[in-house]
Amino acid sequence: MAAPTPLAPVLSAHWDARRSWTLASYEQHGGYEGLRRALALDPSEVLTTVKDSGLRGRGGAGFPTGMKWSFLPAPDGGPRYLVVNADESEPGTCKDIPTMLASPQSLVEGSIITSYAIGCRHAFIYVRGEVLHVIRRLQRAVEEAYAAGYLGEDILGSGYSLDITVHAGAGAYICGEETALLDSLEGLRGQPRLKPPFPAVAGLYARPTVVNNVETIASVPGILRGGSAWFRSMGTEKSAGHGLFSLSGHVTRPGQYEAPLGITLRQLLDLAGGVRAGHELKFWTPGGSSTPIFTAEHLDTPLDYESVGAAGSMLGTRALQIFDETTSVVRCVTRWTEFYAHESCGKCTPCREGTFWLKQVLRRLEAGQGTPQDIDLLLDTCDNILGRAFCALGDGATSPITSAIKYFREEFEAGMHTPASVLFPPERSSLF
Ligand code: NAI
Repeated sequence: MAAPTPLAPVLSAHWDARRSWTLASYEQHGGYEGLRRALALDPSEVLTTVKDSGLRGRGGAGFPTGMKWSFLPAPDGGPRYLVVNADESEPGTCKDIPTMLASPQSLVEGSIITSYAIGCRHAFIYVRGEVLHVIRRLQRAVEEAYAAGYLGEDILGSGYSLDITVHAGAGAYICGEETALLDSLEGLRGQPRLKPPFPAVAGLYARPTVVNNVETIASVPGILRGGSAWFRSMGTEKSAGHGLFSLSGHVTRPGQYEAPLGITLRQLLDLAGGVRAGHELKFWTPGGSSTPIFTAEHLDTPLDYESVGAAGSMLGTRALQIFDETTSVVRCVTRWTEFYAHESCGKCTPCREGTFWLKQVLRRLEAGQGTPQDIDLLLDTCDNILGRAFCALGDGATSPITSAIKYFREEFEAGMHTPASVLFPPERSSLF
């Protein structure tokens, strides 16, 4: 199959094909060509191809994928694992579930290629427990792959063997944190582990483990098909390739937009029909609610790791939640904070206690019953969480608050004395 042209969709190219989730449809569109190419190479050559492509983790942190694989210690005869993080939960993030529904075989094929590269004989896909329809579709995709000889013993006569287990989580945001996910997979209560050691050294059952996001793994077959230079021809020098951008909220045509990294929100809004008619952009998230918010002044910021970082936020999961001028920023941030307080696992004090108190203060500001000290109190509490929590959940909880105060301080000040009925009349409450 010819390498796709740089701007053509790759991951989502065949999502609209008839019964796109079946093996037959996937094969019809070049599926498993990447695996055939991989099996003709030495595992180390597959790893080098992915390393050279510049692919970075699509789960949010953007860690270089090939480098992560190469951190696994030399084989010692014991098991090594691939664990796919399919526990997508970041508010606004909705790219992995559509991928698994429309093209589960891309994840299965990517998992086989990755496992071959790292010397894994048993891979796990850890999926959110609530999304039963996704779990069923993945299980069916794995069954089809076994029946066709892509999984099990002696895959395609290569001598390489692999099993894949689809595992359902129980629906906790913290289990998207890779070490909490591993504890949950082992049957323990899902709480983060101390790092280091990183999973690459001591992960599942204390064995070397690669944990990668769904989109990361689903991008691997395309890299084997098209080559690392093809992948690098998209995106920017340090943020290579394509990515799914999820537009939601006050936008005319919400949905998944696949584009090279480095595209801007202005370009994406052009594709999505703009902010809903008659309204204008007030603020947005570049990568889910755990990333500092942006405003209309960031419409032309290239959505790559470096540019978004330089502008004061993070690319995160590319969950672009769009809010127009009818949205109360205080109300929105309060809802997000309620989520973090609810999902905090309770293991560390800064996150457990901090998110609780942030929620209390925000609720009274939202009700127009704040005190003159409340903004300082919020900032001080955030300061005591940031960098002091056990995992990224605590840090993420502070991002929307500190950035919202930076751009919309006057709305928080208004909450110190203005009754809620004046601040939030029903006609200004379209989204929350
Ligand atoms: P991190 O930066 O600590 O780690 C990223 C990855 O690189 C991990 O797999 C880690 O094991 C690996 N790594 C980092 N340094 C390493 C080293 N020295 N040796 C070996 N491996 C190393 O970030 P973390 O905590 O894994 O993820 C935070 C991100 O997750 C946030 O930026 C947020 O955007 C995102 N997120 C995504 C969610 C989703 O639903 N997809 C939910 C919540 C957060």
